[in-house]
Amino acid sequence: MSSSPTSPAIAVVGLGYVGLPLAVVLAKHFPVVGFDIDRGRVEELQQGDDRTREIEAERLKASSLRLSSDPADLPGQAIYIVTVPTPVDEQNVPDLKPVRSASRTVGQALKTKAAPGAIVVYESTVYPGVTEDICGPILEELSGLKCGRDFFLGYSPERINPGDKVHTVDKITKVVAGQTPEVAAKLADMYGRITSGGIHLAPNIKTAEAAKVIENAQRDINIAFINEIAMIFGKLGISTHDVLEAAGTKWNFLKFQPGLVGGHCIGVDPYYLAHRAEELGHHARIILSGRAINDGMSQYVAETVSARVKPGAKILVLGLTFKEDVPDLRNSKVADLVNALTKLGHSVAIHDPLADAQEAEHEYGLMLSPRLDQLAGFDAVLAAVPHDPYRAIDDATLARLVVPGGLVADLKGIWRGRTLPKNVNYWIL
Ligand SMILES: NC(=O)c1ccc[n+]([C@@H]2O[C@H](COP(=O)([O-])OP(=O)(O)OC[C@H]3O[C@@H](n4cnc5c(N)ncnc54)[C@H](O)[C@@H]3O)[C@@H](O)[C@H]2O)c1
Repeated sequence: MSSSPTSPAIAVVGLGYVGLPLAVVLAKHFPVVGFDIDRGRVEELQQGDDRTREIEAERLKASSLRLSSDPADLPGQAIYIVTVPTPVDEQNVPDLKPVRSASRTVGQALKTKAAPGAIVVYESTVYPGVTEDICGPILEELSGLKCGRDFFLGYSPERINPGDKVHTVDKITKVVAGQTPEVAAKLADMYGRITSGGIHLAPNIKTAEAAKVIENAQRDINIAFINEIAMIFGKLGISTHDVLEAAGTKWNFLKFQPGLVGGHCIGVDPYYLAHRAEELGHHARIILSGRAINDGMSQYVAETVSARVKPGAKILVLGLTFKEDVPDLRNSKVADLVNALTKLGHSVAIHDPLADAQEAEHEYGLMLSPRLDQLAGFDAVLAAVPHDPYRAIDDATLARLVVPGGLVADLKGIWRGRTLPKNVNYWIL
């Protein structure tokens, strides 16, 4: 650690996909305590085991990061960074319980001992206004201190992607906003120490909150458009991928692929903005249309595959995580796809080399088949998640997995252009 006596002490609150990598990188420069309410997660991390696979055991063990599930370790920090989940509930309404609860924890810590000018920065994705209008008052209430005088607020959205080893927290441009120019400058200094991607100072906190939420809403809408044209071209009998390749030769054509939109961010964050818009009397038509199309893709794929196999078919689904090459099962739309296929009367086996079998059963009530080499003779094989090992499946394996006359359904086009076993049908989204 290259911290000096003037380095601010930092607490990172919430050690998941976002908080842990951030805390490890910060700990290279500052004294950092990483706090999580999940004691099991903290104990695992203390053993060097990061189940999200973002930080390797050696890096974790070598880090000066102090790991804790005890709120008594939080008072007196100069900067608190909140990186807790921001999901939606069953009705797709923002669920701010973790953000509120983390704010109460930090408020309590400030009450016990507040460093002069302490700053509380939120990195969780929220709609504009959550930091100042919801979290600030909670911090004030619990601490008995005045926001903007005794402690200050900041917001800096996180942009990393699970499993992305290129756009890491130490390389991406960090958008930073503070309650005052001085706070913004302090935060820019702190984040500037950890990223080579530079700092973009947003003029205020709501702007920084809004920037993050539209990044993901924009992506969601673009994917929804491609999903919609995939449905149209499916009816027309034209290959969407061929069309996209042709259209993609134009300089300003945006390159997106059709597919399921799951996970903790893209399929969730647009609901945050739409919710705030609704509160303000604006119905967010494009955002919610995009969401409806993308949320309907599991059913569309299930019906399309079902129409191409015999009733009561045996179907093998490859991949359950929300995206390729990560173990992240949150908001997996493949689980919806499996349920839809089952409802349509088919029997479905699922394989995923990265997903945790216990978590799959606990979250979705789905059992994973442990070994691909022991599976054979399905009426359809549906490549749902393009994990590397599935891209590399050889012809002999494919021929073993699917019966003659059966179907290979290739959601992401991973086997596009390859020679399939004889008498096997091919469908690509
Ligand atoms: N996953 C991503 O790649 C990503 C990218 C950009 C932004 N984000 C946003 O960052 C935020 C965090 O996402 P994540 O993927 O790291 O979530 P996560 O579920 O992986 O981790 C959150 C952690 O916070 C802990 N936690 C929950 N409530 C807490 C509390 N009250 N006090 C302390 N710890 C608490 C949980 O135990 C968990 O370990 C979300 O708002 C998300 O939208 C995520």
